[in-house]
Amino acid sequence: MQISPSILSADFANLQAELDAIAGADWAHVDVMDNHFVPNLTLGLPVVESLLRVSPIPIDAHLMIEDPDRWAPPYAEAGVASVTFHIEAARDPVRLARDIRAAGARACFALKPGTPFAPYADLLGEVDMVLVMTVEPGFGGQAFMADQLPKVAQVREAVRRHGGEIWIQVDGGVSASTIEACAQAGADVFVAGSAVFGAESATAAVEELRGLVARHGAHARP
Ligand code: DX5
Ligand code: ZN
Repeated sequence: MQISPSILSADFANLQAELDAIAGADWAHVDVMDNHFVPNLTLGLPVVESLLRVSPIPIDAHLMIEDPDRWAPPYAEAGVASVTFHIEAARDPVRLARDIRAAGARACFALKPGTPFAPYADLLGEVDMVLVMTVEPGFGGQAFMADQLPKVAQVREAVRRHGGEIWIQVDGGVSASTIEACAQAGADVFVAGSAVFGAESATAAVEELRGLVARHGAHARP
């Protein structure tokens, strides 16, 4: 059970301090948006390279960008430990996942709420994690989409049948009131933006979320 706070809701003028506040988390989730794949613009590789130099924990980059086949591998080469691309944007996901892994990172594909998992089940052998979006990608602070939980359960079942250590991440609207339903459905990596950085103490919020899912650990194991 791993917590990956999204710095999308952090103070962008003080990212080093914000990363230090979540040093007790497993990952720092960094949302890269290009204003084409999603209608919002955040940051790109130069900023991620700077974050890599100061982050006390590994970086989990969520690339909401067009042409990930071209732009995702450089994040892995720069030292990002987990690189997630959107399956809707990838031209050759097998080759892309292999490029990311060859550069030393974990490879992951993400599914928007309207994208089914079944057509991509064959990709499980190529990736280390599947991200099931529980909001429409683009913005923090949106309401959790409980109708995505059956998809989480479907991916969990496919991972169980496939075998191996493939993680299932949920991202969007994850908070103290929704995280347990995600764990019950089979997720084991939890992204939370506003629930962590909107809290009085980001450090305490990470611990609270961790405490809520700790007892679900056995369930998610393959
Ligand atoms: C949305 C991003 C999320 C976002 C989540 O497109 O991928 O990572 O930061 O924010 P919350 O947790 O506030 O929904
Ligand atoms: Zn994200």
